[in-house]
Amino acid sequence: MQWGIKNRLARIFNPETGRTVMLAVDHGYFLGPTRKLENPRETIAPLIPYADALMLTRGVLRNCVDPESRIPAVLRVSGGVSIVGPSLADEGLTTSFEDAIRLNVSAVTMSIFVGTEHERETLLNLAELVDQGETYGIPVLAVTAVGKELEKRDARFLSLCCRIAAEIGAHYVKTYYCEDFEKVVESCPVPVVIAGGPQLDSFRDTLQLAHDAIARGARGVDMGRNIWQDEHPVAAIRSVRGVVQENMPVDEAFELYRSVAGR
Ligand code: 5RP
Repeated sequence: MQWGIKNRLARIFNPETGRTVMLAVDHGYFLGPTRKLENPRETIAPLIPYADALMLTRGVLRNCVDPESRIPAVLRVSGGVSIVGPSLADEGLTTSFEDAIRLNVSAVTMSIFVGTEHERETLLNLAELVDQGETYGIPVLAVTAVGKELEKRDARFLSLCCRIAAEIGAHYVKTYYCEDFEKVVESCPVPVVIAGGPQLDSFRDTLQLAHDAIARGARGVDMGRNIWQDEHPVAAIRSVRGVVQENMPVDEAFELYRSVAGR
């Protein structure tokens, strides 16, 4: 792997642990002002100290994150669809590589939609992005199986998605946690991080999810709603960080959550 790609990955994945806590705040690109992310600056600012990287679009990066911030940006460069449109899978590339370079990003990211009518197009977009990433030394994160694809969330399907993304050249992959998750990790030759998905019933469940994913080989989380839609987002990210970066058992992390939340 070339130096620039390694160096940028080392900004995202703590070299001491090999793991990352990415804060996903890109949801507005197809959901608009989703709950608790109506004002991205307000939501993001208190969480930045506890995140290893932010996943976001160029609009939110430019307008809602101070350029003096040292937080690594993982720039979402796919979109062109919306929650009220005909198909969430019909994504194209929305941001040029030149703009990503100008924004000094640590990685670029896009979604692939395996198993949909847009499979070929999104996979070829990934190939194009990887070619550009290799040219300029910027890693590419492939996001698998969002939206309707969630319904197919089993190890067989997610292994297929992650492996295809890695074969095309993604430098790391984001997917969902599932039963037999270790099979997804074992058959994917690049690091795998997990999304949180919609907010879970109890925050303890979120910590359990992060814990189980790490125990089965995930190299971190790229979590959004379970952190910033929580009643206590700072307590949430601090305790997820405890699990991912400090090997905290779930009970201890939940205690940390309760004490930071003032419960
Ligand atoms: C949407 C995304 C989100 O960033 C991803 O789903 C992570 O956020 P959450 O934990 O809320 O699911 O990639 O396409």
